[in-house]
Amino acid sequence: MCRMVDSRLGHWLKLLVSLMLLLKTQGLYVGITYVKSAVAKGAVCLDGSPPAYHWDKGFGTGINSWLIHFEGGGWCNNVTSCLSRKKTHLGSSKLMGQQIAFSGIMNNKRPFNPDFYNWNRVKIRYCDGSSFTGDVQAVNPATNLHFRGARIWLAVIEDLLPKGLKNAENALLSGCSAGGLASILHCDSFRALLRMGTKVKCLSDAGYFIKVKDVSGAPHVQTYFNEIVTLHGSAKNLPLSCTSVLKPSFCFFPQYVAPQVRTPLFILNAAYDSWQIRNILAPSIADPLGVWKSCKLDINNCSPLQLKSMQDFRLQFLNALNKSTNSSSRGLYIDSCYAHCQTETQEKWFMEDSPVLGKKVRDCEFSPHYQSSPIVYTSVIFLLQLTLLLS
Ligand SMILES: *[C@@H]1O[C@H](CO)[C@@H](O)[C@H](O)[C@H]1NC(C)=O
Ligand SMILES: *[C@@H]1O[C@H](CO)[C@@H](O)[C@H](O)[C@H]1NC(C)=O
Ligand SMILES: *[C@@H]1O[C@H](CO)[C@@H](O)[C@H](O)[C@H]1NC(C)=O
Repeated sequence: MCRMVDSRLGHWLKLLVSLMLLLKTQGLYVGITYVKSAVAKGAVCLDGSPPAYHWDKGFGTGINSWLIHFEGGGWCNNVTSCLSRKKTHLGSSKLMGQQIAFSGIMNNKRPFNPDFYNWNRVKIRYCDGSSFTGDVQAVNPATNLHFRGARIWLAVIEDLLPKGLKNAENALLSGCSAGGLASILHCDSFRALLRMGTKVKCLSDAGYFIKVKDVSGAPHVQTYFNEIVTLHGSAKNLPLSCTSVLKPSFCFFPQYVAPQVRTPLFILNAAYDSWQIRNILAPSIADPLGVWKSCKLDINNCSPLQLKSMQDFRLQFLNALNKSTNSSSRGLYIDSCYAHCQTETQEKWFMEDSPVLGKKVRDCEFSPHYQSSPIVYTSVIFLLQLTLLLS
C-alpha cells in the first residue's frame, strides 16, 4: 500500500474528508416518537420512562417495506453499572436527543443507500441494557431500576403494526453491536409477530460476540454475559431452541443461537472486531499492568505477541461462526477490518471507497475509513450469499 502522504497530513485530510461527508450525507434528522402506551404494560427504560423510536416513512416502491434497526450501546451487568446507565440516554428516554441523524443503511437518498433508501426505516432506541431481552416484574424501590428490555421490544412492534408494519411485504430486522445481537436473538420472534405473507430477514452488524477466554486465560465474557442474563431475567426471552439444551447465559452468544434461527439471517462482522478485541480478548481486568493499553488505542503499537493474539482471536471467531453457516438461509460478510459496526456510518456502508466485493476484491486496507494495520496481511473476506439480503 502506498503511504507517501505524511501520516499527520493524512490525518488532517481524513478529518477534512469526514467533515465534508458529514455535511453532505448526514442531512436527514428524524424526530423521536415516545411509546407512551407502553408504560401501562410495564415496558419501560431502566428509569421507568417510556421507550422510544425514530421513524422515517417509506415512499414510492418502498412504502410497504420496513427496516427495523436496533440501536446498540453495550449492556449493564450489575446494579452499579445499571444505575450509572440510568443517568444516560441509554437508560432513560428523558435524556435522549429529540432528533437523530439517519445515515448509512438508514439514509433516505438513493446514491447513499440504494437498497433501503425508500423503505420505512425505524431506529429503536436502546434504554434497557440487555439487548432487549430483560423482563423482571419486581422493581426495587431503593434503586427504581426496571429490567424490561423484552417488553420494550414487544411494545414497539405493537405500536408499529397499526402504522403499516402489519401490511409489510418486506421486513428486515437489523442492528449494530448490542443491537446486532438483539437482531439475532429476536429474529424468529420478529417473524412470528408479522403476518404470514411478509418476507422477513435479519441482519446482524457487529453483533456476533464470541465466547472466548481473555488474554489472562479467564472466561471474562462468559461471566459478564451470565451477569447480564441473570440480572435482567433474560432466560425466558432467549430462543427456546437454545435454552432447552444449554444454560441461559450461553444462549446470549450468537454461536449457540444462530445455527437454529429459522428466518434468513445475514451476519456482517469484522473478524478483528475492535470492540471484542478491546473488551473480550483484552479487557482491562485481564491486563492489570496495562500492557495492552497503547495497542488497543492504535494497532500500530501492538507487539508481535499481541498481533499473534489478535490473529488467534480471528481464528476463534471464524470457528465460532462456522456452525452458523450450515444453512442455505445464512449470508455472511466477514472482513478483516479492525472495526465495529459497518452499517450505520455512511463511509462504511456505502461510499465509493467503502470496503466492497466486486470485480476487484477490496478490503479495509484499501479503504481510507479504517485504521490500516499490519494484521491485515491475511486479508480474507468470506462471502456467502450476499444476495440473500436483497433477493
Ligand atoms: C459491576 O460491573 C462492572 C463492569 O461493568 C465492574 O467493573 C464492577 O466491578 C461491578 N460492580 C460490582 C459491585 O460488582
Ligand atoms: C467448518 O468447519 C469444518 C471442520 O473444520 C470445515 O470442514 C468446514 O468447511 C467449515 N465450514 C465453513 C463454512 O467454514
Ligand atoms: C445447523 O447446525 C445446528 C447445530 O449444529 C443444528 O441445530 C441445525 O439444525 C443445523 N441447521 C441445518 C440447516 O442443518
